Amino acid sequence: MGKLMIVNGSPRAPKSNSKQYIQAFLSAWSGEYEQYSVTQRQHAACLERLEGCSDLLLVFPLYTDGLPSGLMEFLKAMLEQPAAPLTVHVVINCGFREPHQNDVAIDMIRLFCKRGGHRLGGVLRMGCGEAFPSTPFMGMARRKLRKLARSIQNGRPAQLSITMPLTRGMFLRAANRYWLSRGAQFGNAQAQMASMDIEGS
Ligand SMILES: Cc1cc2nc3c(=O)[nH]c(=O)nc-3n(C[C@H](O)[C@H](O)[C@H](O)COP(=O)(O)O)c2cc1C
Repeated sequence: MGKLMIVNGSPRAPKSNSKQYIQAFLSAWSGEYEQYSVTQRQHAACLERLEGCSDLLLVFPLYTDGLPSGLMEFLKAMLEQPAAPLTVHVVINCGFREPHQNDVAIDMIRLFCKRGGHRLGGVLRMGCGEAFPSTPFMGMARRKLRKLARSIQNGRPAQLSITMPLTRGMFLRAANRYWLSRGAQFGNAQAQMASMDIEGS
């Protein structure tokens, strides 16, 4: 394979979980690569660099069961400037526990590939994507990302999933503790989260 372009599709790119997942992927990647973040908003320049690539890796979070708008904008720019066919790989992470939460977003990438004449390659679906980096479970995620990197490099891109080894109840308790402690900084978090009011409307 030729060069790989890695695109971080997170709106909070410099502080994103996606950035940490890219670093873990790169620890097992020995091929040529370039990196771009959609927050740089220099899509035209990135598309020029893409001309020298055979593969594209999109690393991004699930946003409302779909793609973040910055990534949508980038994909739209790619469709408007047709290029040579690429193999497009995906690492998608979501806050919920179940990796299958990401499936609709992956279908969106599949449609994008069809429309742009590209091929969908390796996919890693991550549940608990928000939580991995701050826990000892990050080692599991790193191993999966390295497995994906090796599979792409061997020319046999894998279809992978990962989540934390937690029951639904354990996940709910941990998530409640986390969000209530975060929300406590802003007053009565529990009442606010149960309210339908948006900023006092
Ligand atoms: C606006 C917004 C929408 C989100 N929508 C979902 C969602 O539909 N399902 C889900 O499981 N997680 C959702 N999340 C959680 C993110 O996918 C999760 O926090 C992810 O780890 C962020 O990755 P990043 O740091 O790479 O941006 C959402 C987060 C935000 C800020």
